[in-house]
Amino acid sequence: MADTLSLAVIPGDGIGTEVTAEALKVLGAVLDGGPAKVETTEYDLGARRWHATGETLPDSVLAEIRRHDAILLGAVGDPGVPSGVLERGLLLRLRFELDQYVNLRPSVLYPGVATPLADPGTVDFVVVREGTEGPYVGNGGALRVGTPAEIATEVSVNTAYGVERVVRDAFRRAAARPRRKLTLVHKHNVLVHAGHLWRRTVEAVGAEFPSVTVDYLHVDAATIFLVTDPARFDVIVTDNLFGDILTDLAAAITGGIGLAASGNVNPDRTTPSMFEPVHGSAPDIAGQQKADPTAAVLSVAMLLEHLGLDDAAARVQGAVATDLGRRASGEISGPRRTAEVGDALAALA
Ligand code: NAI
Ligand code: MG
Repeated sequence: MADTLSLAVIPGDGIGTEVTAEALKVLGAVLDGGPAKVETTEYDLGARRWHATGETLPDSVLAEIRRHDAILLGAVGDPGVPSGVLERGLLLRLRFELDQYVNLRPSVLYPGVATPLADPGTVDFVVVREGTEGPYVGNGGALRVGTPAEIATEVSVNTAYGVERVVRDAFRRAAARPRRKLTLVHKHNVLVHAGHLWRRTVEAVGAEFPSVTVDYLHVDAATIFLVTDPARFDVIVTDNLFGDILTDLAAAITGGIGLAASGNVNPDRTTPSMFEPVHGSAPDIAGQQKADPTAAVLSVAMLLEHLGLDDAAARVQGAVATDLGRRASGEISGPRRTAEVGDALAALA
């Protein structure tokens, strides 16, 4: 990659702005004097802009964002914005327009981090969630709304092309990990049309990856094993809706929403990929410096890895592991301000 990394930054609303400031602080520290410089352009998008102008993502802004190497997003939304406006108009629109078909969500239980599970074992898996199809495409409609005869459809779209490319990405990732195991999660005993397309695609692409062991779970069984035996998972590949739900459960068992990072990735690199913490804007703690910026910082590590800056990514991950270890040992106790956590991680990175 070029020695100047151009980054589009969308801090968003609520704690989104607070955690993004710390993520950028750590990014600056880890690249200081290193192989790449970072140039950021900040975009005011989210609830604040929608309240002010009614805009979610103007075409001209999308065109500008498209010219960057990557996107860092905090979180968007507040209770005053009707449900769906920013999700569909901004977040999903970015994923669809930029063809970010791999939604990547790693789940690592760091040593000493509190988990609701009594005996989780070693938890280190990644969910490869399809990002541009499934029931999230907006292929549906409603008739006779508000009457007793209302009809609502929300059609799940699965194309051979779309399934194949995400399955192939998941196999590549599995082949590069030590355990080389891929679990397809679907519900092909009931969702026979989409499910069998996924199943056949995994079989066909799997033939090209003989080193990878393939497993299959129905999504309901997957929720059981995520709680009773999460250590069995290495790479999970699944559709947009199942992946959305499973990754919240995965975050819950690995230390909570303050640690969960994600990437909306275009593996073909024809458009910028977008990295963001899984959490939202947390209006209940916004503006109080109470948010844990670790999820945003780990999203920066994913961004660096995507751009081929593996050493810098490893240093950010190492800083987080050290900080979490200090929390677990009691060396750090009591609540810290968002900026204090950011300072500590920047110093360690
Ligand atoms: P949320 O993730 O914002 O908050 C859920 C709970 O987790 C809250 O109690 C919050 O205080 C806590 N929390 C979240 N992040 C935290 C952190 N880093 N450190 C410590 N505690 C943290 O989810 P919620 O409340 O359902 O949604 C709030 C708003 O965020 C809504 O407007 C929603 O639409 C939006 N949202 C946006 C997302 C995005 O921008 N990608 C994702 C999820 C929700
Ligand atoms: Mg979700």
